[in-house]
Amino acid sequence: MRAKVVVCASGEGANFEAIVRASRDGVLQADIVGLIVNRANAGALKRAENLKVPHVILSVKNFASADEWDRAMVHQLQNWQADWVVLAGFLALVGKKTLRTFPNRIVNIHPSLLPKFGGHGMYGARVHEAVMNANELESGATVHLVDEFYDQGRVIAQERVPVEKSDTPATLAQRVKDLEVSLYPRVLNDLVMGRIGTS
Ligand code: GRF
Repeated sequence: MRAKVVVCASGEGANFEAIVRASRDGVLQADIVGLIVNRANAGALKRAENLKVPHVILSVKNFASADEWDRAMVHQLQNWQADWVVLAGFLALVGKKTLRTFPNRIVNIHPSLLPKFGGHGMYGARVHEAVMNANELESGATVHLVDEFYDQGRVIAQERVPVEKSDTPATLAQRVKDLEVSLYPRVLNDLVMGRIGTS
């Protein structure tokens, strides 16, 4: 039986779309059964509509507490019978109940070579600005397990790209994004096929 994957996103959704296309092209032996966004204006929503992937908005601000939101996340994930929870630009800390319900089954991608340039507040352009300010010669993307801290779970895969002298944070961001949309589906396939162990 093919694994069921739910993607969680807050932004543009390029990774989400790449994962859905990989699932349909046979690169990823799993079904993308739903998308959860935590912002009504996430570009990923429009992509889900176009790709005909079921989608819901679960914003913490619409719940009485973060715990209530966490419970709603678990409920939705169980409703879709998720085997894997794939964070792709999801700008919220995953709740404790969700972590307990899906142990070693929640992964994230981060646009730097973790442990460098990760943690709370390190997302989007800030990551690439920090890489350039530090005069790094290379950057990349990291896929890691999710725990209760931002960007700290065990690293599963990492690939590199050069930082060119002529780069701006925007050109570097694009190079890293191009890497991510190829890396994430491949790594997810290794995970769902059991080629990479998580426990
Ligand atoms: C990606 O760079 C990912 O590494 C980070 O957030 C970004 C999401 O981009 N966690 P997109 O929404 O997939 O286009």
